[in-house]
Amino acid sequence: MCSNPSCQPLAFLIEAPPQPLRTHCSQVAGHRSAPHHLRAGSKSSGRDAASLNRLRPLPERALSWPCPSALAIPYPAVARRGPDVAYAPPLAGPAPSSGSLRSERGSVEASTGVLDRIPCRQKRSRFGCLHCSEESAATRLTLFLSSNMTSKKVIAVFGATGAQGGSVAKAILEGKKFAVRALTRDVTQPNALALQDLGAEVVKGDLDDEASVEAALKGAYGAFLVTSIWNSNREKKEVCQGKLVADVAKRLGLKHVVFSGLENVKRLTNGKLKVEHFDEKGEVEEYFWSIGVPMTSIRVAAYFENFFTIWKPMKASDGDYYTLALPMGDIPMHGISVADIGAVVSSIFNSPAEFLGKAVGLSAEALTIQQYADVLSKILGKEVRDAKITPEAYEKLGFPKAEELANMFRFYQMKPDRDVKLTHQLNPKVKSFSQFISENQGAFKSI
Ligand SMILES: NC(=O)c1ccc[n+]([C@@H]2O[C@H](COP(=O)([O-])OP(=O)(O)OC[C@H]3O[C@@H](n4cnc5c(N)ncnc54)[C@H](OP(=O)(O)O)[C@@H]3O)[C@@H](O)[C@H]2O)c1
Repeated sequence: MCSNPSCQPLAFLIEAPPQPLRTHCSQVAGHRSAPHHLRAGSKSSGRDAASLNRLRPLPERALSWPCPSALAIPYPAVARRGPDVAYAPPLAGPAPSSGSLRSERGSVEASTGVLDRIPCRQKRSRFGCLHCSEESAATRLTLFLSSNMTSKKVIAVFGATGAQGGSVAKAILEGKKFAVRALTRDVTQPNALALQDLGAEVVKGDLDDEASVEAALKGAYGAFLVTSIWNSNREKKEVCQGKLVADVAKRLGLKHVVFSGLENVKRLTNGKLKVEHFDEKGEVEEYFWSIGVPMTSIRVAAYFENFFTIWKPMKASDGDYYTLALPMGDIPMHGISVADIGAVVSSIFNSPAEFLGKAVGLSAEALTIQQYADVLSKILGKEVRDAKITPEAYEKLGFPKAEELANMFRFYQMKPDRDVKLTHQLNPKVKSFSQFISENQGAFKSI
């Protein structure tokens, strides 16, 4: 380790020529091409310069820091020395296909190449340009790390490329208290790159793969989990995904998980109603708490965004008006914009003592279907009416999961606990349905 107490340790993994394995470091021993940690200003710097032209991914077993015998590059020294440091020649050869840099101060990973991912400083292209490629590896890494590495606690966010997780990742980044590790199965997709631009560490994470979940949560303080109702062939897929994260969180000692849960309707109604995508989340909630993971469940009301898609007003066949076919009778239905959930979750992470072990129902407001219709009529200038469909008629509509959704509306009619006041306290900017529709009129152009 660097003898200067002000130095922050930083481990670079550099591809080095074949050399004897460093058997004194158990995390490294046995790896075919031993990773090479360097000390700035050490006598070995010059000799090793030639080998510093390519970066390779850190093998998983070498990731935990500090390795007692690993040498460290003191981060401030690298930052001061810039491109002239003896041990950092200009990048030569093709860009690496993947890379991973970690230290006590945080970590940076990119499966399509660390240097490729460094934003172009000249703003001539998205990631690097001719000028950038002429800069030394050390300069570019230093610039990248200085803006991306942090001493903040890390929150790993599942579903970060999606609606809920994306909202959560952005709100936590805006809050600046925690660092975000955004998890996705495809780190190259546009939503992942956008989060990286906002300062998130983007890491591969697959909820159907235990090793991936373990790597994704390693070193994290907390996690946000939203399970997926699609893309898995397994029975009870949300239960599998949720319990896996719970087990790994327990094993790794995460301090706070916020889980996007819902009620176990089947259990609450003694088997009378089955709503699989609720029941499975309820089972996961129970499991988290039963094994003692510090967890807060958020039970999210129906997204207002559903009115853009599955709940879009439908043209009536018998006149110049539109209908909303949602079987709620005259009972108000809770709703919230998914974009407003992130700030709520960020507030929950900021006050763990208040929320650990609790389930919090989130809602911006509750309106009857006729009230939703009235808001749409007023703002869109088209007449929208409540179709007054019953759950019995709804479940016979014949689309996939019609029966499950009819049961969901039956459960909504039982008025599950959603706390409008608390939601507004946790996110004072939460939008009403009226505000939401006003700001998104473009989504209804086709009606
Ligand atoms: N719609 C509503 O009104 C409503 C209300 C309350 C709760 N919910 C719940 O919200 C959840 C859906 O969340 P959303 O709206 O954010 O969905 P979304 O926008 O479709 O995003 C799904 C996310 O899940 C990730 N994902 C899918 N499979 C994965 C896997 N195997 N491993 C890791 N990540 C995976 C995707 O990431 P990558 O593709 O990048 O890997 C993506 O980021 C559902 O469980 C639903 O029940 C919905």
